[in-house]
Amino acid sequence: MTLAQTDWFTAARFGLFVHFGLYSVAARHEWVMTREQIPLNEYERYAQVFDPDRFDARAIARAARSAGMGYAVLTTKHHDGFALWNSGVSDYTSMQACGRDLVAEFAEACRAEGLRVGFYHSVIDWHHPDFTIDCHHPRREDGDLTELNSGRDMARYREYLHAQVRELLTGYGPVDYLFYDFTYPDGMNGLPGKGAQDWDAEALLALTRELQPGIIVNDRLGIGGDLVTPEQYQPDGPMTSGGVPVLWEACQTMNGSWGYDRDNLEFKSADLLVRMLVDSVAKGGNLLLNVGPDGRGALTPQDSATLAEIGTWMDLHAQSVIGAGPSEVPPPPGTALTRRDDRLYLHLLTWAFGHVHLPGLAGKVRFARFLHDGSEVARTEFDPGQQAWNTTPGGQPPGTLTLQLPTIRPDVLHPVIEIILDGEN
Ligand code: GLC
Repeated sequence: MTLAQTDWFTAARFGLFVHFGLYSVAARHEWVMTREQIPLNEYERYAQVFDPDRFDARAIARAARSAGMGYAVLTTKHHDGFALWNSGVSDYTSMQACGRDLVAEFAEACRAEGLRVGFYHSVIDWHHPDFTIDCHHPRREDGDLTELNSGRDMARYREYLHAQVRELLTGYGPVDYLFYDFTYPDGMNGLPGKGAQDWDAEALLALTRELQPGIIVNDRLGIGGDLVTPEQYQPDGPMTSGGVPVLWEACQTMNGSWGYDRDNLEFKSADLLVRMLVDSVAKGGNLLLNVGPDGRGALTPQDSATLAEIGTWMDLHAQSVIGAGPSEVPPPPGTALTRRDDRLYLHLLTWAFGHVHLPGLAGKVRFARFLHDGSEVARTEFDPGQQAWNTTPGGQPPGTLTLQLPTIRPDVLHPVIEIILDGEN
């Protein structure tokens, strides 16, 4: 993977994760099958009633696009094993259940809306008869594992896994991003996990790159990848591996659950989510924000409203995020700083402090204005060589640029000041 091949991803900064599957009908988190240890034949009943009549891939892609996102990633198969496409090697599919290839609908909709296409694919499979019972499997407490696993053959499962990946990467046009999920070699509670060799990760990754040479692949096969995917946390700074910066993308939920979770109403606000997005960009990363369509496949009112609110902010502030990255200037307290070309973007995460001091920027700035309305922000600069005073307002050291904020806070999720740097800076 060359740097140029990942350019679109770094520039996009913001993507939509879509968790949809049989668990959306259960509506109790996407791990419901194993959390409640639901027997296979009982869980399969969700497939018999699966009817995503309100799954409108175009509407989902449009919502992503209007929120300012550049790509979207759909769960082609989650840990429950149900495939959302017309798989030729399984009859546990959306095609069998409702006559629809949702992956095809999704890929087409993304392209129509100008989004890059991403697939999430679980290497874990609680439905496949050859997938051995381990620490996360719904049957982990059903008796002696050696007995339960006799007759299960991971080599046969691997063939199936690779065959399904081949279908996904040959049948749906260019796929830009693959999010594999996940490897857990250490196991849990004295029960075994699964590692790279269980997926034959090397061969799977090679197959992925052979079928889609331009694809970006995440790091969850147990052998590294093109990017690191912190889950439900923001790293405390730019991510590195062996001292070298790496691509990274934080994946985050709206309410802690990835799949639709009807009774969980602990939603993050659009305000918080925009701060998280800016936090990622300021640290050189991306944000993949999840939605969990409901049992009929519709975006929930909460998810739609949040995306729309984020979109309202992005309409006015996109250039501080898309195509932007970290700035070498340290952010003053209560702010985050991003940079794009000759512009610094000062995100004001709190308010009413009157002045913002930027040490070292005096004499280096051509103009400062609010991004939402283009209105000038007054500034004071002292030339360290010439000045009669040795401090700026607020007792700042020479060379400090001071921005003067208005008393009234602009009515946006958080205001951003665009600072146009002069010449060489
Ligand atoms: C996890 C979970 C899962 C979710 C995912 C998203 O590892 O198993 O349910 O799909 O990560 O990052």
